[in-house]
Amino acid sequence: MIDFKDIIAKEISNITNIGVDELKNYIEIPPVRKMGDYSFPCFKLAKELKKSPQMIAEDLKNKLNFKNNEISKIEVINGYLNFYVNNIELMKNVFSEINEKKEKYGSSNIGNGKNVVIDYSSPNIAKPFHIGHLRSTVIGNSLYRIYKFLGYNCTGINHLGDYGTQFGKLIEGYKRWGSEYNIEENPIDELTKIYVRINSLCKEDESVLEDCRNNFKKLEEGDEYCFSLWSKFRELSLKEFQRVYDLLDVHFDSLNGEAFYSDKMQEVIDILEKNKKLVDSEGAKIVDLEDKQMAPCLIIKSNGSTTYATRDLAAILYRAREYDFDKAIYLTSYEQILHFKQVFEVAKMLDLDEKYTNNLVHISFGMVQLKTGRMSTREGNIVKLEDLLKESISRVKEIMENRDSDVEDKEKTAEIIGIGAIIFNDLYNSRIKDEIFDWDEILNFNGETGPYLQYIYVRTNSILKKAGYIPEIEKIDFEMLNNDSSMEIIKSIYNFEDIIKQSAEKYEPYIIARYLIDLAQKFSGFYNNNKIIVDDENIQNARLYLTYCVSIILKTGAELLGIKMPDRM
Ligand code: ARG
Repeated sequence: MIDFKDIIAKEISNITNIGVDELKNYIEIPPVRKMGDYSFPCFKLAKELKKSPQMIAEDLKNKLNFKNNEISKIEVINGYLNFYVNNIELMKNVFSEINEKKEKYGSSNIGNGKNVVIDYSSPNIAKPFHIGHLRSTVIGNSLYRIYKFLGYNCTGINHLGDYGTQFGKLIEGYKRWGSEYNIEENPIDELTKIYVRINSLCKEDESVLEDCRNNFKKLEEGDEYCFSLWSKFRELSLKEFQRVYDLLDVHFDSLNGEAFYSDKMQEVIDILEKNKKLVDSEGAKIVDLEDKQMAPCLIIKSNGSTTYATRDLAAILYRAREYDFDKAIYLTSYEQILHFKQVFEVAKMLDLDEKYTNNLVHISFGMVQLKTGRMSTREGNIVKLEDLLKESISRVKEIMENRDSDVEDKEKTAEIIGIGAIIFNDLYNSRIKDEIFDWDEILNFNGETGPYLQYIYVRTNSILKKAGYIPEIEKIDFEMLNNDSSMEIIKSIYNFEDIIKQSAEKYEPYIIARYLIDLAQKFSGFYNNNKIIVDDENIQNARLYLTYCVSIILKTGAELLGIKMPDRM
């Protein structure tokens, strides 16, 4: 598509002999339209050209010559050059690109098939899949879609927490009281109860704790009974998690969790040993990271067992070999920032190529706060994700009934809206902000919400349907849209590709989420002020095409966030 920044930079470069890339970096997009579509701050060149910004600006204005009429007007204000793009050129460009690419509009192949591994969701077996895991799931899923759209080869990994001493406890508890609990019916709740019960027994009786440790040891050694129980817990938990993934429409390419690395940790230990990085510390083995101003990374505990970090290190070795990744992204809350810093530092001691160790990225995010306070397993204030999603769906159903909605498949539509609302809420703010979870806001059909986006999308669709519109770009009289309210939308559409790239670069789906709300609001303003279906065929055709473009972008954008669009609502 036409790249105005590039065109402007090249022209200025021809005159000044300054590099195009440097110039491109200086070009700004002014906050208000009366300062142009692009603006060039000439003070950036004052030193080099030994002239005042105002003089540079005047001089450039006189010499600049855009042969293909991409720029329709240049103004000099306070040492800035303000450029106005040629509306018709822009429109032709944007529309023919959409005409050609349709739902793929905005995609590109900058990824060039490079391998990106995304480690996300990763709940813990036999523990509730709580709202904290929602963020990892939703952000990871969106990044997966965004990177794929940009031509990367993505692998989504659910690094399940299916390993650790707690399984020794669970096995012990199940051995003692298994028949009292219906873990087939309600695995997570029942396993949690068993866990709480055995834990308090361990506190009373040291010998029980010893039994638990033994179980875990046996599990590691492949004892048949322990292994079969562990498999059963894992399988049942996964089945329950799967219901949430189905509701969210989230999929993974690999479910290799922590246990998968149980036989792959020795290599990590051996390499660290060989490289003289392992230090004894009160019976434990650690990697000292003092020179990096970090606490040491614990590799083997004093009781001989490995750690969460050891497994992550084994996973890095494995993923480098298996996926030959160009980038490995991990999504967890900011509580694990130190963990990943340590792991990434120790990874550099594993004789891996820098290609891998320089491209490990931990993407952290804030906590979720229900209006009643923080949600975490430790405080026992658990909100289960499945309950939350179901509640959203039933609240939407109620709203639809109050609105007298005549949608045919109410069930399905409520699901699309209810789930979309939760996903959107999760992605609307920059990751690191703590998220406030407030039903009234999330489900407000007129707010900056998922339902609002869906509502505007449905609007665009019903206009197109009502008109029986079949897009034909040849029939558009571009002059019909050469006015501020239409151009505002078209410029927004022009920016879509850039918005997607920015959100990938910063690992921030909110950039797309905010963009979509802005586009929807612009369209809604346009629609309120301009009739679309009118007698004048030329006007109608042009406005319908614009509506068609908005409809495509809203849908594609929502898809990149992992949100579906209903046909009606
Ligand atoms: N299971 C962990 C948790 O619930 C998250 C795992 C994140 N991924 C990783 N490779 N460490 O906190």
